[in-house]
Amino acid sequence: MTATILDGNAIRDQIYAELQHEIAALRAAGIRPGLAAVLVGDNPASHVYVKSKIAACEKLGLGSWQLEPPKTSSTGALLEIIADLNQRDEVDGILVQLPLPPHVDAKRVLESVDPAKDVDGFHPLNLGRLVSGRPALVACTPSGVMEILRRSGIAIEGAQAVVLGRSDIVGKPMALLLMHANATVTICHSKTRDLAAVVCQADIVVAALGRTAMVVPDWIRPGATVIDVGINRVTDGREAARLFANFPLRLAQFRDKGSALVGDVHPDAAAVAGALTPVPGGVGPLTIAMLMSNTVKAARLRRGGALNASAAATPVHTAPANTSVKTGNI
Ligand code: GUN
Repeated sequence: MTATILDGNAIRDQIYAELQHEIAALRAAGIRPGLAAVLVGDNPASHVYVKSKIAACEKLGLGSWQLEPPKTSSTGALLEIIADLNQRDEVDGILVQLPLPPHVDAKRVLESVDPAKDVDGFHPLNLGRLVSGRPALVACTPSGVMEILRRSGIAIEGAQAVVLGRSDIVGKPMALLLMHANATVTICHSKTRDLAAVVCQADIVVAALGRTAMVVPDWIRPGATVIDVGINRVTDGREAARLFANFPLRLAQFRDKGSALVGDVHPDAAAVAGALTPVPGGVGPLTIAMLMSNTVKAARLRRGGALNASAAATPVHTAPANTSVKTGNI
């Protein structure tokens, strides 16, 4: 079997096309949704990500502001910057790029973002809304994974889904979104016993461990859908030769560039899976698309509109109306 490759760039383009209509309608009504990105320090990956986020705003005609306070900025100084962005009417979305420098109290900074402008979905109020199945701004990468699954026609309801990784940014919200879509969800982490045996049961595997090619083909049930959230840079020639033994073109590209991006899933999993997101070009493009979608949602929400009417989306969750949180509700 050779997996169907789930093309994140194509799905991103669909979402952008839908958002463009919505943004045009908002702009015709005199509203230009805008995103402010706060970038502290000189983490090279963070600079690349924020540049891409600002470029996406420009492509879609959204307002954008990039703030780069000095890397020595105190927690208090960052709180003041956020407080200013919170009260600026033209700013609909606020994103604080992580990681923040170690001397900063990152949780305090994230909690100071107005939940109505929290386009990353990191604020405890939005996380709590997600837990209880109420409309919320939801973290971009897990929302992007849901878009890939839904737009690719992958059945979620009733599926056994295994989420590898329990981070606040990906693993936990991912598991909640899959559960609200009526999958049976198992969350695995570094202390999970016999990971291979658990993953082998899965119809849907979401790998968000941050470990290069850790998910090997033997772990994958034939025909399963495999979503690879990992983005790891490989620079070692012998490692690349092992990973790309069956992919001569990728090995040649590695030798040209001296590096390659590899996910948390071994490339050979494509021979076993039914469908697979590539790295690069799978989940990555969706993360920024969902940030744009959340910014448009936030703009509408702040003006009293419905949170769920975004073109790009799918409701925040698909919990049936009777899924209230009460003891004994399964
Ligand atoms: N750092 C890594 N991923 C993310 C993300 O999705 N949002 C923010 N703000 N920082 C990140």
